[in-house]
Amino acid sequence: MKTKILPTLCVILLGLVLAACNTPAPLPEAPTRIPTLIPATMPAPGSQNTPQPGVVFPTSAPDATAGLAIYQENCASCHGADGKGQVEGSRDFTDVSYMRGAAPVDFFAVVTNGAGEMPAFKDELSDDERWNATWALWSFAVPAEQIAQGKTVYESAGCVNCHGANGEGVIPQARKFTPDFIPQYPAQQYYQSVSAGKGIMPAHQDRLSEDERWASVEYVRTFGYQPASQ
Ligand code: HEC
Ligand code: HEC
Repeated sequence: MKTKILPTLCVILLGLVLAACNTPAPLPEAPTRIPTLIPATMPAPGSQNTPQPGVVFPTSAPDATAGLAIYQENCASCHGADGKGQVEGSRDFTDVSYMRGAAPVDFFAVVTNGAGEMPAFKDELSDDERWNATWALWSFAVPAEQIAQGKTVYESAGCVNCHGANGEGVIPQARKFTPDFIPQYPAQQYYQSVSAGKGIMPAHQDRLSEDERWASVEYVRTFGYQPASQ
């Protein structure tokens, strides 16, 4: 009698395993990761979890065109009229991969409080002016044509169905792409989420080219600021 128990158990277990196989697969929760592309020189992605002194988020979309005027007046002497960096320690703001890895809020914190040889601007420029100048830095790295391409992708690839024409979110799980959310993360993070999928957002790495994904991300970011008219 005893010897029969084991085989019986095995049959039951096998049945359970097969039953588990027949239930419909749940939506993938942990999407396939794509390799991280951030080179070692990149700053740590968005410090959104450690609030920095002087950081206030904008309530309406900062204006990069206005920011460029502020930049030429207050920043170009050290950072170069073309954004490529003039004095020691100043970065090349035209370096696309560097700018993709930087969170605007971290740059805003530097503009506010200064860093190294760079003076603080919290008393020289208003919050709005510092946000305008911060977003203006991305006009050195993000061409207008890329944003235009991104709009086409956003509307044709179905992003708009979940995120809405103005990034307002039409399904409850989708975050609103507001001027205080967008600057908290580098474009790189959004690119990874769009590529590999996140939550119920499907992965797009097999549906869209790299260029299309970057363009769609740069377009999404413009729900958080008004890009410079170039
Ligand atoms: C006196 C020269 C000087 C002026 C003026 C200046 N900067 Fe800077 N800036 C620097 C230097 C040098 C650094 C590098 C600081 C460090 O980390 O040691 C820097 C760093 C930065 C960073 C951080 C970049 C990074 O990769 O972390 C940002 C953003 C920035 N500056 C923006 C601005 C803006 C916007 C203005 C004008 C409102 C401005 N700067 C004016 C010299 C200057
Ligand atoms: C089926 C609905 C759906 C579609 C289609 C979709 N998304 Fe999303 N997206 C979501 C949801 C839901 C989230 C929030 C995910 C989470 O945080 O759990 C999200 C998050 C994001 C984020 C924020 C990612 C982050 O790291 O926080 C970006 C950026 C984004 N989507 C852009 C896009 C773009 C661009 C497209 C088109 C190429 C797109 N989405 C297509 C539903 C969708």
